[in-house]
Amino acid sequence: MVGCAQKCSTASGVRRRAGLQSGFALGVAAVCFALGTLPSPAADPPGVLDPTAWGCDHAGTAVPESITGDECLFCHRVKIGPGWPQNRHQSTIRNIDPEALALLKTSKSHAPFAEVAEYVLGRTNQWRFLKRSGAYGRLDMLSTRVHPTGQKAVSPFADAGAPHWEPDTFANQCAGCHSTGVDSRNKTFSAISLGCFSCHGEVDLDHTKDTIKVLLAQKRNDPARVVMSICGSCHIRTGRSRSAALPFPNNFVPGDNLFRDFAVDLSDAAVAKLSPVDRHVLQNVCDVVVRGKGELTCLSCHSVHRSSSSRHRRQPRSAICWSCHDGDVDKLLPNWSQANSATCGY
Ligand code: HEC
Ligand code: HEC
Ligand code: HEC
Ligand code: HEC
Ligand code: HEC
Ligand code: HEC
Repeated sequence: MVGCAQKCSTASGVRRRAGLQSGFALGVAAVCFALGTLPSPAADPPGVLDPTAWGCDHAGTAVPESITGDECLFCHRVKIGPGWPQNRHQSTIRNIDPEALALLKTSKSHAPFAEVAEYVLGRTNQWRFLKRSGAYGRLDMLSTRVHPTGQKAVSPFADAGAPHWEPDTFANQCAGCHSTGVDSRNKTFSAISLGCFSCHGEVDLDHTKDTIKVLLAQKRNDPARVVMSICGSCHIRTGRSRSAALPFPNNFVPGDNLFRDFAVDLSDAAVAKLSPVDRHVLQNVCDVVVRGKGELTCLSCHSVHRSSSSRHRRQPRSAICWSCHDGDVDKLLPNWSQANSATCGY
């Protein structure tokens, strides 16, 4: 990695694709700015681009100390606070509730685990049960995978085998995308679930005077490739860290170029293979980071804090619409919401 331990310019270093391997090795003449002195972000140029050829990364370095979500929410309690408890990022891992406990108790072999399980991960496709481990910043995960809304007649535990706590699975395979501030060397996290740091990165408190100092502020209009790196750091579920060989990025800090260390197959064939929801994500990523089209990003269609995608209906029609719609926007493909992911195990 280019030794750009500080923050990086997001506005420099775009090159044409020169060959598949070379761009990665060359990197960028490490022009580093502090985030606070970033110039206004430049627009993404069109063409066929080398996704690795801009910015910096923090692969292998220490996780930055960050202000906790509670501190952010102390000031941002009016606009952000009310929606945050329900936000699915915040609640991807949540305290176990009576419904999940009752489910565990329906199975003789699982009932004893109901006494110690503390958290649930998942929603419609699969639930996993977790508890704090003896070690700092780690969780034990129950071996059983449950489909909570399965038919009543069939026990969701039918094929579960003998349940047991796995001490390493969460740390090695899940932590980077389901917890905050993950140290890839020790495989520890600094907070369960996803906090402000996951998207806004290191926040300078001076942003209260000038919001251009905080990523994703309205005033910044961050380049599409920066947004793709942030959202893609979890929503690309087919990548691998080159340096850490983990299925999640090695110490990605928002503002970094994800693609320098996170190897992702960005071919059309790889996009076509995915189920619809993951396909529209990777297609959007490819349009931006390979084809250099900057006009459409996740944020054109999704509002994270309003948990809404209603604004997507106003976007001009393009190929991305046909991941979910069938030839016309008032018809949906029958399988549009179907999802599977080898990374998440469902
Ligand atoms: C590269 C990032 C990444 C990794 C690694 C990862 N996940 Fe996920 N996971 C996601 C994202 C993003 C979603 C939301 C997908 C969506 O809603 O389209 C998700 C969703 C889920 C869900 C919810 C499914 C549902 O809708 O009910 C479960 C359960 C889950 N992951 C379990 C795991 C487990 C267990 C591991 C480790 C073995 C893991 N994930 C590893 C990114 C990741
Ligand atoms: C999953 C990514 C993500 C996480 C996590 C996240 N944000 Fe945001 N935030 C965004 C995006 C994207 C925007 C830009 C507006 C939008 O799309 O909703 C934003 C906008 C904002 C704004 C400006 C909103 C406005 O309408 O003026 C504030 C303030 C904010 N975030 C604070 C927070 C705080 C505080 C937390 C933690 C409690 C947090 N964010 C967590 C992605 C995130
Ligand atoms: C001391 C109070 C304070 C703290 C702590 C604080 N903020 Fe802010 N923040 C503000 C003020 C004041 C503004 C400017 C006015 C506004 O937009 O709400 C602002 C603006 C923002 C914006 C840009 C809003 C826009 O215009 O788009 C974002 C994003 C944001 N803060 C995120 C965060 C995050 C994330 C944290 C925690 C890491 C945080 N803030 C901590 C007070 C604070
Ligand atoms: C640190 C990992 C991470 C990052 C970064 C992240 N997400 Fe997510 N996101 C998740 C996970 C995990 C879920 C699924 C949570 C669940 O249902 O358990 C999710 C759920 C979602 C959902 C479905 C739930 C909803 O609120 O509608 C949308 C849409 C989404 N993310 C968009 C985004 C966008 C846009 C960005 C970039 C601004 C982003 N995410 C950044 C991990 C992440
Ligand atoms: C053209 C508009 C559009 C773009 C661009 C787009 N999305 Fe979506 N996305 C949608 C719509 C519409 C849905 C389905 C409606 C819903 O579930 O709210 C959806 C669904 C999702 C879901 C699953 C939501 C769920 O309920 O499980 C996730 C996660 C997601 N998008 C993430 C992203 C990310 C990350 C990006 C950027 C890389 C992105 N999307 C780009 C329109 C878009
Ligand atoms: C990830 C899946 C997904 C993608 C991609 C997507 N849509 Fe949708 N779209 C949906 C879903 C689900 C609904 C129904 C719920 C809603 O209205 O949000 C919908 C509804 C709509 C509606 C309202 C239709 C009606 O009958 O009321 C319009 C218009 C629309 N989409 C346009 C688009 C356009 C234009 C694009 C491409 C730029 C697009 N969609 C991309 C999932 C998607």
